[in-house]
Amino acid sequence: MTEKQIAMIGRISREYCKSFYMFDIEKMYEWYDVLKNRLDTKLNKRASLVYAIKANPFLTPYMNEKVDYFEVCSEGEYRICMERDIPTEKIVLSGVYKKESFISEVMKKGFNGIITIESKTQYRIIKEIADTNSVHSIRILPRLTSGNQFGMDEDTTVSVIKDAFESGYFKIAGIQYFSGTQKKKMSVIEGEVKNLDRVCNRISSEIGIKIDYIEYGPGFFFDYYNDSDHLDVFDAIIDIISPYIEKYEFALESGRFLAASCGFYVSSIVEMKTNDTRNFILVDGGIHHVNYYGRMLGMNEPKVCHIDSSLNDVTAGSNGNDATEYDVVGSLCTVSDVLLKKHRFYKVPSVGDILVFCDAGAYSCTEAGVLFLSHEMPGIYALMPDGDIKELRQPSQSWSLNTEGME
Ligand SMILES: Cc1ncc(COP(=O)(O)O)c(C=O)c1O
Repeated sequence: MTEKQIAMIGRISREYCKSFYMFDIEKMYEWYDVLKNRLDTKLNKRASLVYAIKANPFLTPYMNEKVDYFEVCSEGEYRICMERDIPTEKIVLSGVYKKESFISEVMKKGFNGIITIESKTQYRIIKEIADTNSVHSIRILPRLTSGNQFGMDEDTTVSVIKDAFESGYFKIAGIQYFSGTQKKKMSVIEGEVKNLDRVCNRISSEIGIKIDYIEYGPGFFFDYYNDSDHLDVFDAIIDIISPYIEKYEFALESGRFLAASCGFYVSSIVEMKTNDTRNFILVDGGIHHVNYYGRMLGMNEPKVCHIDSSLNDVTAGSNGNDATEYDVVGSLCTVSDVLLKKHRFYKVPSVGDILVFCDAGAYSCTEAGVLFLSHEMPGIYALMPDGDIKELRQPSQSWSLNTEGME
């Protein structure tokens, strides 16, 4: 962690609240630039990055400075984009189910982004809305399934594209494909890209139109548990795509990979105890605030920093031998609320010390179950590039959402 990050974390926990997320916007920008430069250099500017805002909607206005498109997967996410003045031409309106009244509202307002098509029914509804409102220029992106409930099988995709082409109601932007998150096997990704090329060739020969845009979510793997610069996987995917860049422009969807590293989840030590021989540290947060993919009962450890009351990062000891082991647990009423198991502390921790869970920028502030046990929801803060703090959400109580008749 940098001195600036530690100082800000100290300031937020002094002035605002004890459990919170901090997103370092400068770090996010720098990481984006690293990735985009690699794409531009190696793929000759034929690939863009699409931010899947489900990973962290709070980053949306900041990502807007950088990314070309946003993958927006619900009415709520769309409204966030409108609230934050995201230009609609940057929106790819996705979602396995799209409410008719919502799509109708969006199209009546002259939506000029892209809408994905995930089923024949969805296509029919969108076509009817286009017809009723005499909208003839909507860009659609039929989604090819990977065998689950999302998208359409190959034959259905081809038939939808044929109908869309013949009807004249739509512009066919290309095709979309996403098969899952945290994908490690490059052979799988290679097979997917090959298959997309084959499907595009089929569309060309059967319908006579050239598909030259592929929106692809490779499920970029982010390693939470080992020291990594995360670039080997990214580079390997670039190499897989590289032979196809004369033929297609690629839009690469990413949520976790773009957002994870800029985020810190911070919680303070509120109590310490020893039960028989086991040492416990209690923090006022817990697993309802932080979520690392592939984590079981605190076993595999993400990067964690221990900040003492003088705001020193005392994570690593000088000789590494004189460590004491503690289980770090949260304050939920469940034995699974274990944040760290037998974690080695090199300086004896005290009540009031701060624990910082790194790489918590994606899928924590939205996906973790904040309503469980009616605890307070953590505050959310942006560390701005000029060094200032911006409060994105105040810490707020959740109990009133868990009882009848309250807002
Ligand atoms: C269609 C689509 N694209 C992109 C993503 C983002 O995936 P990741 O966070 O692994 O990049 C998701 C995640 O569910 C998705 O459903």
